[in-house]
Amino acid sequence: MKEVAMNQTEINENVERVMLSGEQIGKRVKEVAAQLNKLYEGRRPLVVCILKGSVIFFTDLIRHMDMPLEIDFMAVSSYGNGTKSGQLKVTKDLTTDISGRDVLIVEDIIDSGNTLYNLKKLLNSRSPASVNIVTLLDKPERREVPMEPEYTCFVIEDEFVVGYGMDYAEEFRNLPYIGVLKRSVYEK
Ligand code: IMP
Ligand code: MG
Repeated sequence: MKEVAMNQTEINENVERVMLSGEQIGKRVKEVAAQLNKLYEGRRPLVVCILKGSVIFFTDLIRHMDMPLEIDFMAVSSYGNGTKSGQLKVTKDLTTDISGRDVLIVEDIIDSGNTLYNLKKLLNSRSPASVNIVTLLDKPERREVPMEPEYTCFVIEDEFVVGYGMDYAEEFRNLPYIGVLKRSVYEK
């Protein structure tokens, strides 16, 4: 059985270059999980996956977390891009009561910061014991509102990336690496 499907290991034709390989990501995710293991030692955090982009990062991360934890899912988007008062649209809310809980938000990428700025405000209004943010990627150059995640796997330049959960027009989430999309893909 030598014939292995190559379409996922070869670079996708719409990808300009691989920014972070699956191996690089895996190594860093493990390091960040080790930091979280210290932070939450003896506690029982509620780890929240922000759908859909965080799903692969989330499933990799929690498998390296060694305290008892619970998981929940939330889907949000922010309106009013480019305005500081961008509002949050919650399309799927948590099913867990977070009052008194240690909440860890798991996000794929922070860009303008609007989504997480508003999400953190919303969750804080529900009286949790703590709210921390772990993000896979951060593009600090693009920030429009103050938003500092407690944990970041990689700080990146202002480029549009896909793969490892992240999409362009709902495509490319299944790429096992993070790649920079060819301009021709979104300019056509
Ligand atoms: P923010 O509210 O501007 O911080 O938006 C963050 C959200 O925008 C992320 O959760 C992603 O869904 C999306 N996003 C921002 N930059 C990228 C990118 O380079 N690739 C894919 N999605 C992105
Ligand atoms: Mg997202």
